[in-house]
Parts: sequence; C-alpha cells; structure tokens
Amino acid sequence: MIAATTPFPADFIWGVAASAPQIEGAHDADGKGPSIWDVYCRVPGAVANGDTLDTSIDHYHRYDADFRLMRELGIRNYRLSISWPRIMPDGEGPINQRGIDFYRRILESLHRNGIRPWVNFYHGDLPQSLEEKYGGWPSRRIPEFFSSYCELVVKTYADLVDRWITINEPGSIYANYGLAIGAPGRRESPRIAHQALHHALLAHGHAVAAVRAHGRTGSQVGVVHNPTFTIPAIETSENIEAARKLSHRDIAPLMDPFLKGCYPSWWLDELKENAPQCTESEMKIIGAQCDWFGLNIYSGMYGCVNEAGVPEKVSMPPPYPRSDVSWQCLVPDALYWAVRFTHELYSPGDIHISENGLACKQQFTPAGEVHDVDRIQYLRHCLRSVQRVTAEGYPMKAYFHWTMFDNYEWIDGYSKKFGLVAIRDGSLERVPKLSAKFYQRVIAANAVV
Ligand code: GAL
Repeated sequence: MIAATTPFPADFIWGVAASAPQIEGAHDADGKGPSIWDVYCRVPGAVANGDTLDTSIDHYHRYDADFRLMRELGIRNYRLSISWPRIMPDGEGPINQRGIDFYRRILESLHRNGIRPWVNFYHGDLPQSLEEKYGGWPSRRIPEFFSSYCELVVKTYADLVDRWITINEPGSIYANYGLAIGAPGRRESPRIAHQALHHALLAHGHAVAAVRAHGRTGSQVGVVHNPTFTIPAIETSENIEAARKLSHRDIAPLMDPFLKGCYPSWWLDELKENAPQCTESEMKIIGAQCDWFGLNIYSGMYGCVNEAGVPEKVSMPPPYPRSDVSWQCLVPDALYWAVRFTHELYSPGDIHISENGLACKQQFTPAGEVHDVDRIQYLRHCLRSVQRVTAEGYPMKAYFHWTMFDNYEWIDGYSKKFGLVAIRDGSLERVPKLSAKFYQRVIAANAVV
C-alpha cells in the first residue's frame, strides 16, 4: 500500500457537485415548466448530437440509489441545485407542489444516507417563461422574481438544509447573453450583456438576504464563482508578484462586487457606455457578507516577468496538455494559487474549491469497467495542490469534485465525460470508475493517496 501524504485538517469537507438540469431529466414531469435550456437544446445545431436534457441520467427517478452509491463511496457532502421551473413553472406566480415535494424527498433521502446537502438556488436553468415575457436576465425584474423564489425555497426547506449556494458562476450570464454561448444563445450588445451580468450579481445578493432572513440558526451561504487565475511559471518572488498582478486585473471586475461591494472604477471607465447601470443600494446588496467564497477551478494560465521586467502571460498552444474539452488546459497548481491569491487579495474568510474535475475520453473494458487513470493522475495532482494550501495555513475548507456522474455537459451534450461514475447508454446503469475508488480512498484517509 502506498503511504499517504500529510493529512488534511480533520474537519476538511470532501464532496461532489452536480446540478439539476444536467442530471435530473423528467424535463416536463409533475408540473415542471420549461427552462431556457429545455428550449435551447432543441435549436438545431446548438448542442452536440442534438442531445436534450429530457431524460438525462434520470436522477429524478433514481436519486435514492444514487445517494446510496454516494454513501458507499464515503461521500458526505453533496452540492446540488434546485430547478426554479420545477418549483415555479413560470418563475413567478403559482407554486408547483409536486416540485416542492420532489426536493423534499431528495433532501430526506440525502439525510437518510448521512449526506449533507449544499443547496444551490440556480445553475443555468432560468424559467423559459421569464425569458419570453420579460427578456430574461437583462430585465431588472428577474432578480426580483429570483428573490421571491429563494425566500420560498429557504422557508420550505430550512428544516433540512443549512448550507446554501446563491448562484453557480454568475459570470457565465455574460457569455449566454452577449456571446451566444449556452442558453438562451443571444448575442446582445456588450451594454445589455453587462446589464444581464449585473442582475445575476444582484440575484446573488437577494439570495444571501433570503438565507439570512429565513434560514435556520447556523445556516451558511456562499457563492460559486469561476475566475481564471494566472500562476507563476517559476516560483520566484518576482514571478509570484507578476502572477498576482495579472490575476488581479482579470478577476477584479467580478470579485470586487462580491467582496468589496463595487465594480473597479478602472473597469467602468474602460467600458464607458457599456458599463452596467447600477445604484449604490444594489451594490450594497451584492456585497453582502457571505460565509465562504467558492471557486470553480478547472484550468489556469502562467505568468512570468519578461526580460524587460514586465509581467506577461505565457501562451500555451497545443501540445500543452489539455483534457477532452479544448478550453481545459491542465494546470493543477492553479488550485493552490487560486486560493492563495484570493486570500491575499480579498481575505474573504473561508474559501472552498466548489468545483474541479477533468473531461476524459472513456471506454469500457471487456469486463465492463472504466479505468480512468488520466482522471486519477490529474485529481491526485490537484489534491496535492489543495493539500499544500491547507498545510500552509490558508483558510481553505472544502473540495467538491465535479462530478459524481457523467451527465449533460451543456453545449457538448453527453459527449464529454466528467464523472467519477459512468452511465451505460440505454440502461443508464451506474458504473463507478477507477477514479471513484481513488476518491473513496482519499476521503477515507483524509489525505492524497
Ligand atoms: C462548470 C459548470 C458545470 C460543469 C463544469 C464542467 O463551469 O458549473 O455545470 O458543466 O463546468 O464543464
């Protein structure tokens, strides 16, 4: 047996993350309304192979067995999202009791299996009705409706949930509305796209307020954000300083509002008439204190000081190692630097890695197993990076692996595999990969094994 490295802190939180639209299926069951993804995935050419979310991996009907498997693997923390249009089919107005009942069953099953739910209010699935009636996130009405939805959710499930997440990656709203990437696939002007982004941040603030007002004693809330960090190519003090500066410039436009309650003035000046319209009171809502700051870290860039003494990003053309998705360059040290720079630049308190994972090519062995040694190697390197950051005393408290099951990978449909557990085509049978066993051992040892 390989000796374990230095253990993680005894109270370190190990978990897995997933989202409702990517795994549930049952897209129109029991009164659920359509989301923007249910509509967008039907646009010809929008999603690889024309894959829809209709059935997905049928978690809607198989959640009990799925949670039993999680328990067997030793997973005690699960980040899930609630589908807004399952709870409120139109995003406003009537409540769908059958949707409410479904998540109660889910949460009860998690508790039965000894798994703590970390409930995310929003992971990409805006009710289509709000898109059609009000124009989606660019409308100021959306954060208002979101606020009512969050209040309802917190009041309904406060007995079962004490860990809340406001919004997954609010920054992606810019790409959805400005760059036609992902639902609803609109290519609006930068001004409108920035306004949509601002409303997503405002929605985050409303969600924090809903938890503070209606959460049970001891409830905690945080956001999940996906900034890209530049890390030192070689760890000299000059390169570290250069990487911190380069990172700061890239991350400030979205980190400052959460953590300082304002947009950087240089950014607003640069955007000129494309800057979001915002008020002081809105910025106060957005800057509300959270209990932790979640970072989704899949990749990173390198920086160094060039011969002229100027901080510079390093280009990473192929064959720099990538995963099975072209956007993911493999930079496992980014986990260490992301946490360290976030702490040094913002001191937000506790920091979580709220997502990290790898897209791998996959094949079943003749015996029907999946030996994903690429995922194991990458995960081992990422976890060493996390281990380093905890060993150095940074307030890094949790790691959530993306993801438990292969699932609907947005515009890539089912073609990209991020799971620790494979899903057999047709039967949808769950097949734990070698990496699931690796993660199980890591959790049991509380150390990189
Ligand atoms: C994240 C996103 C997840 C998942 C993952 C892998 O940005 O929150 O939903 O798709 O990327 O691409």
